Amino acid sequence: MMGGNAGSMRAKGIFVSGTDTGVGKTIVAAAFALSLQKAGFRVAVLKPVTSGAVLVNGRLVSEDAELLRWASACTAPDSDIAPYLLREPLAPSESAAREGVVIQLKSIHAAFERLSTTHDFVIVEGAGGLLVPLAKDFLVADLVNALSLPLLIVARPNLGTVNHTLMTCECARSRGIEVLGVVINGQPEQPDQAEEYAARVISEFAAVPVLAVLPRCSGTDEKTLVKLLSECAEMPTLTKLLSLEAPHEIS
Ligand SMILES: Nc1ncnc2c1ncn2[C@@H]1O[C@H](COP(=O)(O)OP(=O)(O)OP(=O)(O)O)[C@@H](O)[C@H]1O
Ligand SMILES: [Mg+2]
Repeated sequence: MMGGNAGSMRAKGIFVSGTDTGVGKTIVAAAFALSLQKAGFRVAVLKPVTSGAVLVNGRLVSEDAELLRWASACTAPDSDIAPYLLREPLAPSESAAREGVVIQLKSIHAAFERLSTTHDFVIVEGAGGLLVPLAKDFLVADLVNALSLPLLIVARPNLGTVNHTLMTCECARSRGIEVLGVVINGQPEQPDQAEEYAARVISEFAAVPVLAVLPRCSGTDEKTLVKLLSECAEMPTLTKLLSLEAPHEIS
């Protein structure tokens, strides 16, 4: 049974970053969380910093964290899943400064530790891309390093994505971050020329695999979208990639 192997997975988690904001980090992270959860893993999710949190019944809510919680069925407290909620939809360092919040690595680290001791796997979603500032002298990339997690890069499919994806890979590598691979998200049913070659060119030049090319699905709500993507053929490959690193896989 898959669940029986869960404890043997070496990496305790994955950090989902993107080439940009709005590329589908939450949707891809949620689809992966749902796929792992359905396979029997106890999955936790962590959205360390949310800018653009919304007021619901007088309470600030991270919509990203809500979707991730639903997909993972994680029951950890909101304060661990989404520790920093900022109202302004700006770079987190700016939103935080304007709202008098100091984003502290040690608080995020502590939340991650609590989640990882009570779950098989933690899926962390960054904010924007790798060089987004969280505080003075503290970028998303520094958070990835502090949590010692391998990186999954979500990229868009269209013209310009090769440049953004290769820059993200190079940035990760220069900072000692392990890149597991790239997920291209939102491939149209009828791709144009650039969308047709993007995956091939990225895998040729990035020296990391393109693990999945996920389709663009229009006209669905976000939960349906996450369900559809979680059923894509590439999801088990992702799971396998992570569990393949298990030290006691053959036991
Ligand atoms: N494969 C897809 N097909 C159709 N729509 C998609 C797909 N993936 C993402 N979307 C839509 O694109 C928008 C951005 O996706 P998402 O919120 O996952 O991006 P993000 O990278 O997490 O953004 P942020 O930087 O704000 O966290 C959402 O409205 C989402 O529903
Ligand atoms: Mg998001």
